[in-house]
Amino acid sequence: MTVESVQSANPGTPENPETPDLREPPLAGGAVPVLGHGLKLVRDPLAFMSGLRDHGDVVRLRLGPKTVYAVTAPALTGALALNPDFKIDGPLWESLEGLLGKEGVATANGPRHRRQRRTIQPAFRLDAIPGYGPVMEEEAHALTDRWKPGGTIDCTSESFRVAVRIAARCLLRGDYMDERAERLSLDLATVFRGMYRRMVVPLGPLYRLPFPANRAFNRALADLHLLVDEIVAERRASGQKPDDLLTALLEAKDDNGDPIGEQEIHDQVVAILTPGSETVASTIMWLLQVLAAHPEHAEKVRTEVESVTSGRPVGFEHVRSLTHTNNVVVEAMRLRPAVWILTRRAVTDTALGGYRIPAGADIVYSPYAIQRDARSYARHLDFDPDRWLPERAKEVPKYAMSPFSVGNRKCPSDHFSMTQLSLITAAISAKYRFEQVSGSDDTTRVGITLRPQNLLLRAMPW
Ligand code: HEM
Repeated sequence: MTVESVQSANPGTPENPETPDLREPPLAGGAVPVLGHGLKLVRDPLAFMSGLRDHGDVVRLRLGPKTVYAVTAPALTGALALNPDFKIDGPLWESLEGLLGKEGVATANGPRHRRQRRTIQPAFRLDAIPGYGPVMEEEAHALTDRWKPGGTIDCTSESFRVAVRIAARCLLRGDYMDERAERLSLDLATVFRGMYRRMVVPLGPLYRLPFPANRAFNRALADLHLLVDEIVAERRASGQKPDDLLTALLEAKDDNGDPIGEQEIHDQVVAILTPGSETVASTIMWLLQVLAAHPEHAEKVRTEVESVTSGRPVGFEHVRSLTHTNNVVVEAMRLRPAVWILTRRAVTDTALGGYRIPAGADIVYSPYAIQRDARSYARHLDFDPDRWLPERAKEVPKYAMSPFSVGNRKCPSDHFSMTQLSLITAAISAKYRFEQVSGSDDTTRVGITLRPQNLLLRAMPW
């Protein structure tokens, strides 16, 4: 599978909610009085979401007093993402807005969202990616240079650092970013941990008590916002306007042609840096885990890199030729998608898959469940990068592999992310093989993204 092939497909046709024979989706089994499905969802969200398709393509869930609709069939997740009757909203987004700001692209809807996408899109276009090549190469090699042969790697902090540094240096260009990127990666790691806790266990006032974890969270969140203000202020003071995303944000105009407000600039920088680092970092952690757990694929990646580069350091120009390496990245993303759950809200009475969805309903679906479904994938739980070879990839149903989503909310960064992930995988595999050390825990930690609990690896030169 190529870097380009993990991307959006053609729009579908929204269904007509006036059709008289629309059905009410079945209630998923296993609801208990009062809590409904809530306990199951909190206890083991991945298993819960993965089991829902047995109950129907669209099912109703009871979460306490609330009814939520879950979409479980790949084609319908595509129809949902492409249908303008559904917008970004719901509890997940409300909590994100409360902490990260209300005016950024990830949470905006309607004309503001369209305008913001127009502003950021050029920085992520396919033809912009080669411009980021040198930074991606430098950071990928710096990562392996830091590791000592035989030494233990804390994969969480290493992955976060490289992801933040690449996003910050490429998109908010400037020398000062080197030191800031370190700070940003520490802040974001703490903020994301705390945000997930606040979303799944909404204890409101308890999070205001001066416990060490709350203090650390508040400090990191405040520093994240401060850092963004500093980045914006310094760029302005420098008088420079490099051709980057930050310049695009600072120069952006609203629909009346007036400069956009300070709050929106701030929230936009946050809205791009935060999803950009957590998702890539989590995926790098899984790639490291995969290389340790499947030495035969680690060896195959190394051999491929060596043959494509003729033994030279791997560079941006090699990425397209690294077929197996790319397939390893895609397969790792299939089994452990960083973004494992997505939500929408119906803006009007509407329909999905012949089911009636009322206005205001919250809809949820899980790329994790979709991408591991035995109905879509033979030997669905096997790690098998060759399933992405062109002749086999054809068998995968539409929308059964959309880790960047589709439609107007599709991740703008698919090319940017795939390029750096392949480059990093190639650079680390060329130099090291990996094994887990004692104390390492590669079980799945469910948070805003999925990542290993605490992956510790020994890096051994080939
Ligand atoms: C949106 C996945 C990396 C910026 C999204 C969405 C997904 C996603 C699934 C759509 C959310 C929805 O439909 O509700 C990923 C994955 C990544 C990745 C799997 C890497 C492995 C990045 C990076 C950046 C980024 C590196 C920026 C530097 C954004 C933004 C949005 C978004 C700004 C919001 C788009 C909108 O609402 O219009 N991402 N992402 N992502 N992503 Fe990514």
